[in-house]
Amino acid sequence: MISGNNVADRPPHGPDSFERIALRLADAGWCVTPDFISPQRVGQLREEAERIWDTGGFRHAGVGRGTGLKVRPEVRTDRVSWLDPHAVSLAQRLYLQAVEELRQAINRTMFLGLFDFEGHLAMYPPGGYYRKHLDQFNDIGERAVTCVLYLNRNWVREDGGQLLLYTDPHAPSQYEEILPLGGQLVTFLSARFLHEVLPSQRHRISLTGWFRRRGIA
Ligand code: OGA
Ligand code: MN
Repeated sequence: MISGNNVADRPPHGPDSFERIALRLADAGWCVTPDFISPQRVGQLREEAERIWDTGGFRHAGVGRGTGLKVRPEVRTDRVSWLDPHAVSLAQRLYLQAVEELRQAINRTMFLGLFDFEGHLAMYPPGGYYRKHLDQFNDIGERAVTCVLYLNRNWVREDGGQLLLYTDPHAPSQYEEILPLGGQLVTFLSARFLHEVLPSQRHRISLTGWFRRRGIA
């Protein structure tokens, strides 16, 4: 089933929509927002990502951080292309502006002190997956909130590539199954929810990022 009670009921076109996502995060810890951006904008972001892919701009994603970063194909097989905030396209800049408004709304609601967003395009080639994991590292500037925006066209369940979000730490086998539908934004508290990406039958594109909070270390 595609996430029931946590679907924000309207696209965030109104001034309170970022607040609504922030309230879902404060309450349940996760939120699925269909049509966070328009189909036209999804198309632009997807075409840009495909151009970067065609010109070899994606790298094998790693696991860990800094000198501990390793390519681990038994864990994940996606490829990533990090956004350079100083060299973004118009479509990327508009998305980052929406993300900035969301950051401020979350800080007002949850007092998380989020100070930064780091993001990359992610491409799962056919057969690609990401096994069950948490998004947090023990590091300075830790990842506090995960934001995944899907850029796919006409995705159906038979295409695979579902995100399974294990929403109840007390019921480890319980999960929400979320299709990577173009324009849909999934947000969740990075430290709280195990999640995985099932093997994808098609190229699966997303723009994935994290709000960071200063670490205690
Ligand atoms: C990740 C991740 C989920 C998705 O990149 O860490 O879990 O649905 N992505 O792409
Ligand atoms: Mn993840």
